[in-house]
Amino acid sequence: MPVKIAPSILSARFDRLGDQVREAVAAGADMLHIDVMDGHFVPNLTMGPALVKSIRPLTKVPFDVHLMVTRPQDFVKAFADAGADDLTVHVESEHDVRETVRAIHAAGVRAGVVLNPDTAFEKAEPFLGEVELLLVMTVHPGSAGQTFRHDVVPKIRLARAFLDKLGYDVELQVDGGIKVDTAQVAAEAGADILVSGSGIFPDRVAETLRAIRAAAERAFEGR
Ligand code: DX5
Ligand code: ZN
Repeated sequence: MPVKIAPSILSARFDRLGDQVREAVAAGADMLHIDVMDGHFVPNLTMGPALVKSIRPLTKVPFDVHLMVTRPQDFVKAFADAGADDLTVHVESEHDVRETVRAIHAAGVRAGVVLNPDTAFEKAEPFLGEVELLLVMTVHPGSAGQTFRHDVVPKIRLARAFLDKLGYDVELQVDGGIKVDTAQVAAEAGADILVSGSGIFPDRVAETLRAIRAAAERAFEGR
């Protein structure tokens, strides 16, 4: 699997969330991205462990939970118990990142660190020997449907080069503004996982997911 596609259910229709999850899985989603916002770290509120638990029985596809919260350490156990497979935490949140990563692992979940668009790659570097995922944001977190920030592409390249050089087994995720054209840009720059919300949901889920995958694969082959 050259590049994985992770649809973000933030852009799904919540009045028929179960159907939308099934549609994305049937279309070949490699994982589902679940955006958690606390109204404090970002000025928006979304979903919590109860939602994760309620959609967990619908599929075996991994649940990739992106915690956009001020105190991620307070929610590790609740999301692990609800059925999260990955928990990614921002380096900009108010916590001891290393301690939170260890708590995530202790809960039996894969851990990742996240960088906002304006945060330097160096802020993630100290943790890369201990995590399974590095998420580079290509929009400022808080809502779906924003425009991909091309100025972040050099950071994706830098992260790719660093991970390859050190031989770390860390998946490089890119999240924000991923559509067919930007999927190609992000995959060319070195992404392993592409998150897409409004690029896939709520309509024409299968068609858009496949188009994004095709663009990413073309870019991957050329890299
Ligand atoms: C942004 C979230 C993203 C978002 C992606 O705060 O972390 O995962 O849902 O949505 P699009 O793909 O529409 O930018
Ligand atoms: Zn996200």
